[in-house]
Amino acid sequence: MKNLTRRQFAASVVAAAALGPAASARDAFAQTPNPASRPDQPEFPPDFIWGCATSAYQIEGAVKEDGRGLSIWDTFSHTPGKVFQGDTGDVADDSYHLYKEDVKLLRSLGATGYRFSISWPRVIPDGTGKPNEKGLAYYERLVDELLANNIAPYITLYHWDLPQALPGGWQSRDTAKALGDYAGFVAGRLSDRVKHFFTTNEFVCISDVGHRLGLFAPGLTLSAAEANQVRHHVVLGHGLAVQVIRANARGGTLVGLAENAVVYVPAIETREHVEAAHRATREGNAPFLTAVMEGKYLDGYLEGEGANAPKVAEGDMRIIGSPLDFVGINVYQPQYVRADGSAQGYSVESRPTSYPHMASPWLFIGPEAIYWAIRNVSEIWKPAALFITENGCSSDDVLTAEGRIEDTDRVMFLRNYVTHLQRAAAEGYPVKGYFLWSLMDNFEFPDGYGKRFGIHYVDFNTQKRTPKLSAEWYREAIRRNRAV
Ligand code: BGC
Repeated sequence: MKNLTRRQFAASVVAAAALGPAASARDAFAQTPNPASRPDQPEFPPDFIWGCATSAYQIEGAVKEDGRGLSIWDTFSHTPGKVFQGDTGDVADDSYHLYKEDVKLLRSLGATGYRFSISWPRVIPDGTGKPNEKGLAYYERLVDELLANNIAPYITLYHWDLPQALPGGWQSRDTAKALGDYAGFVAGRLSDRVKHFFTTNEFVCISDVGHRLGLFAPGLTLSAAEANQVRHHVVLGHGLAVQVIRANARGGTLVGLAENAVVYVPAIETREHVEAAHRATREGNAPFLTAVMEGKYLDGYLEGEGANAPKVAEGDMRIIGSPLDFVGINVYQPQYVRADGSAQGYSVESRPTSYPHMASPWLFIGPEAIYWAIRNVSEIWKPAALFITENGCSSDDVLTAEGRIEDTDRVMFLRNYVTHLQRAAAEGYPVKGYFLWSLMDNFEFPDGYGKRFGIHYVDFNTQKRTPKLSAEWYREAIRRNRAV
């Protein structure tokens, strides 16, 4: 159909229809090859991990149970005006009690991995000091349930729910040390059963969105200098966590992070634009992924921030640059870039107002972002392994009278991103797994329950989970180990 214009295609369908239904179907599709047997369709490696992702505050609920301490998200969500319709994570998906049911959902998809996060204040209620055995026991039960179902646990240690009790929060350098100690404690206790640990989820959301823009907990609007210091403490915390995990965990434990690096997509796939995307990737992620991968802040970043640049103590950059076993990238949207004659050598394209997005206005669609995320990061820093630690979308899901959710837009989104992921795998980039965000609808931070990202629909009154069409699609992709 590639060579037909839209009008020609419509005309051919009309002509076929004139022959009657049976004949039209036969004639119009007689030449259609069976995609399942298409020899040129690349597949993922046989041991590719297909999973789903969630995070503690977004699904667990049970915020006052078994000795859990308060997190900054409890405080923030209970502050009037901060979250859509005053929603909180108090109950969320009640996964603290329903985790076995949630593992069943994963199993029925055929998932081989589950990325979830640990609530720091559930395990160490004050952030430092005495651990709460009952809190840790919940994660032991969850891990055991996953393993009993042949699903590998992938643990994120910090997905934004900082213990409220930590003095100064991320503004204090001590919080970086506290993260390291907590991460080391958890890895020491769980690495007999868990092989992969992610230190942190999305640096920029922790630092800038929470401390400069004030849209996430703790809701601060600090000065540039203060916010840059927060950035530094967060990457330092990651580096310390890497080191303490390695010191405390069993041999063979693998450590990485989950980062929503800005994904620069060359507007045109030619050498000069691909190189522009590489340069933009390093510079556009300078405070975060670049610092972690290179153990230094780029001169351009420090010069650009001038007097507001972070204060860096002796030895910090070596800690921040601690070698990783893998890099996890959360991919949602593209940023198009092209080479130009400027001093910088490239420009980041602005988006026309007609650029399409999903239900969340920020979620611009660009399936090739997943390919370029892997290719850019691989070519620049050559990590041993990569994971797509999040990818998925919000959709205006409607439960039909028959109890179905026909989220064809989410299926379109996922199919296209996974197709581009398949390209990366086929070209030999070391991508080892894909975690779809999210297993089920959940507390979408400032959007509360107003935006649904799940492939299972959750009725928040009854906690009933219903597979959406996208869950059926994902099951089939997993079964065939390729985009379908
Ligand atoms: C976060 C998730 C969030 C998702 C959709 C990601 O950046 O890691 O916690 O639910 O985006 O907004």
